[in-house]
Amino acid sequence: MLPFDQRTGQIWLDGGLVEWADAKLHVLTHGLHYASSVFEGVRVYAGAPFMLREHIARLRTSARILDFDLEHDDETLHRATLDVVAAAGITEGYIRMNAWRGSEVIQTAALKTSVHTSVAAWEIPAGYYAAADALRTGISLVTADYRRPSPEYAPVKSKAAGNYMIGTVSKNHALRAGFDDAMLLDDRGHIVEATGAHIFFTRGGTLHTPTTRCTIDGITRACVLAIAGHEGIPYEIGDLGPEFVAEADGAFICGTACEILPVARIDDHHYDLRGNEVIGRLVTGYHDLIAGRSPVEVPHAWGR
Ligand SMILES: Cc1ncc(COP(=O)(O)O)c(C=O)c1O
Repeated sequence: MLPFDQRTGQIWLDGGLVEWADAKLHVLTHGLHYASSVFEGVRVYAGAPFMLREHIARLRTSARILDFDLEHDDETLHRATLDVVAAAGITEGYIRMNAWRGSEVIQTAALKTSVHTSVAAWEIPAGYYAAADALRTGISLVTADYRRPSPEYAPVKSKAAGNYMIGTVSKNHALRAGFDDAMLLDDRGHIVEATGAHIFFTRGGTLHTPTTRCTIDGITRACVLAIAGHEGIPYEIGDLGPEFVAEADGAFICGTACEILPVARIDDHHYDLRGNEVIGRLVTGYHDLIAGRSPVEVPHAWGR
């Protein structure tokens, strides 16, 4: 696949559309040196960004947590995103929004830097985030060596680029070990999430998911909980120790990029995916939601 910096099209950068090749930043940029940088990933379905206002709200929150404010209001970012998607003629795709501190200082303190924002979008080829038959076969997870830091030790509620070094290293290790992704525990040894998705378990018809104490408030997670509520599927949110992997009868991960993906294996524990009615109903419910044919309303205050 063509590297991202060699593609063509238009990217929205700091207030207007620029040619893809011109959307550059200098090597002496605070965001690069000190990870003063946040981002969002948004899906496009049938030409329309899904849950765009929620993603813009989270981008703003993420920046605020890193002690900077976006230069543009929500309406401007919303319009910019629609313009980028329209300019590229995307039907099924992915949007990446970024905000970062500029080049005025190269030192830790950054009270007076400029803040930059970009929105780029591209078509997603089928099977980009998971093998085409992953919904049927499920994916495999391995427990990561690194743990998610507690909220006292890192800005875990921010979708901050810096937090993703844990995810990148953990996922690289997982892929090298022959797994599809890693499952991260928190500082207390409780299950948190995968490297780019939240995690759910099923046990005897009930859904179980960890709290978001050490992770971002997931938009897809909120969709799943809303669908469960609508479907009358009971769910519990609480601490899950690693022993829960063996106590559960099924698992899945969910996120903007991967949507809902059943998990067939965590470390040495295997799940029988056939006949897991709860996961089947949630997958159908999510597909209805993204297709715009679902009565389910997802609450805007999604963090729980
Ligand atoms: C670390 C991490 N956890 C969870 C998620 C899922 O969040 P969402 O459903 O809002 O995409 C993502 C993806 O954004 C993520 O990167």
